Amino acid sequence: MAEYEKIAKTGDIPSGEVRSFALGSEMVAVCNVDGRFYAFRDECTHQAYPLSDGMLEGRKLTCIYHGAEFDVETGEALCLPATDAVETYDVKVEGDDIYVLIED
Ligand code: FES
Repeated sequence: MAEYEKIAKTGDIPSGEVRSFALGSEMVAVCNVDGRFYAFRDECTHQAYPLSDGMLEGRKLTCIYHGAEFDVETGEALCLPATDAVETYDVKVEGDDIYVLIED
């Protein structure tokens, strides 16, 4: 059964920013939207560049490489050139620790 794994401290990710963290063999992007944290695979579904390089506006993350946009809560691709959703992970915060749940 998958378990939550600690990935970062809340202070590592300022509001309105996204950061990338290694978790096992996975690169996981975590962003802070007004104090709420969201996590997703750090790989654009268009050409697999890191989404953590992108620009965050509210829950919308824009990939800087070709302009695809994603909803960081649902993973939904909001515009071309991406058509597939990015995989998202459940997040919980305990104290100032951020945990993510990655299913196998
Ligand atoms: S790699 Fe993200 S839009 Fe192309």
